Amino acid sequence: MSSCHNSHTNMDINGAETKTSDTHLPKKPKLSPSFISVPEIQSEFSHHDQSIVRINNGSFGCCPSAVISAQQNWQLKYLSQPDNFYFNELKKGILESRLVIKKLINAEHVDEVSIVDNATTAAAIVLQGVAWEFSLGKFKKGDAAVMLHYAYGAVKKSVEAYVRRAGGYVIEVQLPFPVNSASEIVSEFRKALERGKSNGRRVRLAVIDHVTSMPSVVIPVKELVKICREEGVDKVFVDAAHGIGCVDVDMKEIGADFYTSNLHKWFFCPPSVAFLYCRKSNECEDLHHPVVSHEYGNGLAIESAWIGTRDYSAQLVVPKVLQFVNRFEGGIEGIKKRNHKIVVEMGEMLVKAWGTHLGCPAEMCSSMVMVGLPVSLGISSESDALKLRIHLRENFSVEVPIYFRAPKDGEVNLVTGYARISHQVYNKPDDYYRFRDAIKQLVHDNFTCSLLLL
Ligand SMILES: Cc1ncc(COP(=O)(O)O)c(C=O)c1O
Repeated sequence: MSSCHNSHTNMDINGAETKTSDTHLPKKPKLSPSFISVPEIQSEFSHHDQSIVRINNGSFGCCPSAVISAQQNWQLKYLSQPDNFYFNELKKGILESRLVIKKLINAEHVDEVSIVDNATTAAAIVLQGVAWEFSLGKFKKGDAAVMLHYAYGAVKKSVEAYVRRAGGYVIEVQLPFPVNSASEIVSEFRKALERGKSNGRRVRLAVIDHVTSMPSVVIPVKELVKICREEGVDKVFVDAAHGIGCVDVDMKEIGADFYTSNLHKWFFCPPSVAFLYCRKSNECEDLHHPVVSHEYGNGLAIESAWIGTRDYSAQLVVPKVLQFVNRFEGGIEGIKKRNHKIVVEMGEMLVKAWGTHLGCPAEMCSSMVMVGLPVSLGISSESDALKLRIHLRENFSVEVPIYFRAPKDGEVNLVTGYARISHQVYNKPDDYYRFRDAIKQLVHDNFTCSLLLL
């Protein structure tokens, strides 16, 4: 027996089998990837005002130091030799960002991905395209456009400015809130399409949010897009300002014609950058950036990559952001899943403490949850909701948006105010306990919104 080669099997740190022998040094075990640590996360966000409990990632997102310094490098590159930056760096850099996005969202081709400033700009691009269809006579005056009643205010104005003004008949889908199931949304959407098709009209456009802003609810987009296809809606635009990093964003699965998501909300980009996806099989060529410059006519992605002299650095850091999210277990998918799980847990903790309820079931929440506020706070108007938000900021250092839900006829003693809480990697359970205790204190002190002046 060759005792000196007496080998045996071990497991390495990743669970793979390794052979070791008594005479040879064991192979260096492979280390499992080391993910970002809690102190490292704290340091990445140490520029946040530490005196404020920020449970409102949904409004403006966040950007870690690593990305801020990458952005500054881009800015310096430009400032140090603008001609070189313009002729040799900018187009290449934006293409790299588009390639990262293409992969993340499972688009068929990089030409389908344009980078723009924000979801508001993306909406203007799509809706301006629709206005042209009316003015060229492809759509008839009186043809319908359908959008959710809870569509974002700025996007509603854009529909007003481009679609209604061009002759479109705009129908709002009334959605229930609180909402108990996705099927309630599907059924209201079907009703709106029926209305759209009445009187011989055609439904030319559907604007569907992926995650509504206020109140915040995940909309069953895949199902609604499918219904639009069955009903012959010409163009489907998904406004997913909160999409990437917050919900599942897969262009092939969703199947919309146009889809926009901000990257500065849940994907750690600096303000401001968004992508606009335009399905290649669609008439993408007819879409143009509203700011016309030298690249007009060269395709939306190229047009959008030069809309005059300005700071493009936020658009150039996307590859760096990918590196940042990959420091977390599971990358952006892992972050998204954990955010959802924790924010639901925190929402449930709050409603238990206040004796209220969530605005929708957990599966309809993203990384944001609507949490019912105690009735005794007397939230009876949008102005009350705003006053309470300011009061929480100024007196309890808690930053959280508040939603007013008007009671329906005959409803008494029901929750009329909801807080929209968010969770992002920098949040701690303590943030939500501070909010819980602030509200408990107000209830204890018999506070009502009528005591506040704006
Ligand atoms: C659903 C929705 N659409 C559009 C927007 C506009 O985003 P931005 O201001 O970045 O253009 C928002 C912002 O919160 C939103 O929630």
